[in-house]
Amino acid sequence: MNIRFLLNGEPVEVEASPTTTLLDWLREERGLTGTKEGCNEGDCGACTVMVTDADGVRTLNACILFLPQVQGRAVRTVEGLAGPEGQLHPVQRAMIDHHGSQCGFCTPGFVVSMAVAHLNGRRDFDDQLAGNLCRCTGYAPILRAAEAAAPEPVPDWMRADAAALDTVAASDVAPGDGHGPAAFTPGSADALAEWYEDHPDATLIAGATDVGLWVTKQLRDLAPVAFLNRCDDLRGITTDDLVIRIGAMTSLTELGAFFADRHPGLAEMIRRYGSVQVRNAATLGGNIANGSPIGDSPPALIALGARLHLRKGDARREMPLEAFFIEYGRQDRQPGEFVEAISLPVQADRLRCYKLSKRFDQDISAVCGCFNILVEDDTVTSARIAFGGMAGTPKRAGAVEAALTGRPWTEETVRAAMAAFARDYAPMSDMRASADYRMQAARNMLLRAFHEDRGVATDVLAVTA
Ligand SMILES: Cc1cc2nc3c(=O)[nH]c(=O)nc-3n(C[C@H](O)[C@H](O)[C@H](O)COP(=O)(O)OP(=O)(O)OC[C@H]3O[C@@H](n4cnc5c(N)ncnc54)[C@H](O)[C@@H]3O)c2cc1C
Ligand code: FES
Ligand code: FES
Repeated sequence: MNIRFLLNGEPVEVEASPTTTLLDWLREERGLTGTKEGCNEGDCGACTVMVTDADGVRTLNACILFLPQVQGRAVRTVEGLAGPEGQLHPVQRAMIDHHGSQCGFCTPGFVVSMAVAHLNGRRDFDDQLAGNLCRCTGYAPILRAAEAAAPEPVPDWMRADAAALDTVAASDVAPGDGHGPAAFTPGSADALAEWYEDHPDATLIAGATDVGLWVTKQLRDLAPVAFLNRCDDLRGITTDDLVIRIGAMTSLTELGAFFADRHPGLAEMIRRYGSVQVRNAATLGGNIANGSPIGDSPPALIALGARLHLRKGDARREMPLEAFFIEYGRQDRQPGEFVEAISLPVQADRLRCYKLSKRFDQDISAVCGCFNILVEDDTVTSARIAFGGMAGTPKRAGAVEAALTGRPWTEETVRAAMAAFARDYAPMSDMRASADYRMQAARNMLLRAFHEDRGVATDVLAVTA
């Protein structure tokens, strides 16, 4: 299939298999070996590239990014960061001055992440660089370099991509804008619905943070595939006084920004979802449709009373999100049906989300607990509680909810409700946690929610000596 995009400022036209990763193509077809292959599964950031489109500039991991996903966009690799006369980018200069590189393997990825943070005026470097791993320099010199470069002006050439996008955005060269044999890249939800109904065995590709690994690690042939990245009408968040509607293609980055004021606990959990690069690619629809029992967004959305909107052809149906997850590996989705959106009621914030993982950053949850408990006149008048990592699906804690509702909001009630977890869940032991640990952690999360509601500080990361 034919794909056009800007590469380091120059238009390129590529004829390639639709599941060729950008990383493989850069290194093997273009000889741009500055972009490194470390893990090939989105974990290390060695392959970080800068991608610009009409929505802005972001970092993505090239190892789990398929070429059709950059159609009409601008890609800048580490080779494209220096100026036309070879002038170093301020972050490159700062990395030299502050000794931010030893073996150098991670350095191109770091430098691209730093350059994008610099361009976007971000100074939260702990977060911005959490998706880049270094195994020998140590992070202090790298962070010092990022801080030193921050006040420097953004070089002109770094802004050139946004202005040049229209040279590759012409719709008549959009790949598969029709019924191509191997890959379809619909420009709207209507086009997707029509095609998917006729090709129910196809693999849908949204952000590819799961699907990418099926290719790079499992070496699977996914054909036929449909890329959803051109379906702009599946992206974005609308809201009125009563309902928030979130399109399936909304990224986790967009989701985190939206909830920052409305439900800060959820936004904080999203901050720990993968890394900046992963959140920039991963979509809400993918995080639900993959049916993972340890996906981070479903427990929070279930606790908020979300409804899932599915579409097959012209037929639409909706259901409470928790009803979608039937059992491990099985969801209530018919062949040819896709996730169109999620909707949730607007409510005052009382959501508490706790993600427990072995590492703080860039790690999948062992247990993720979300609590939406309404207390009026010292009595619990409603409770919606959902967990990931406690069953084969994201699951509501019906017995715990019942043990709280209608009772006084006291530690005695909470401790009694902690016993009810055994009626809701029988967690498994795996490499992330034992069953006993998961059960104890889930119970303690309820106790934590109670104490926090009473104003007791529980965040150990916020405790200073
Ligand atoms: C390094 C790394 C870190 C990660 N960290 C986390 C984490 O902290 N928390 C977490 O929850 N997840 C994490 N993940 C998992 C992954 O990011 C999520 O599951 C993600 O939300 C998937 O979304 P996507 O858009 O990338 O989906 P894709 O990979 O494109 O698709 C995933 C599945 O959903 C299907 N699909 C996608 N969109 C639709 C749709 N609209 N309708 C129907 N089916 C659809 C696809 O066909 C596929 O089966 C991580 C992944 C990586 C690689
Ligand atoms: S090679 Fe590790 S994130 Fe891509
Ligand atoms: S400089 Fe060696 S891995 Fe970072």
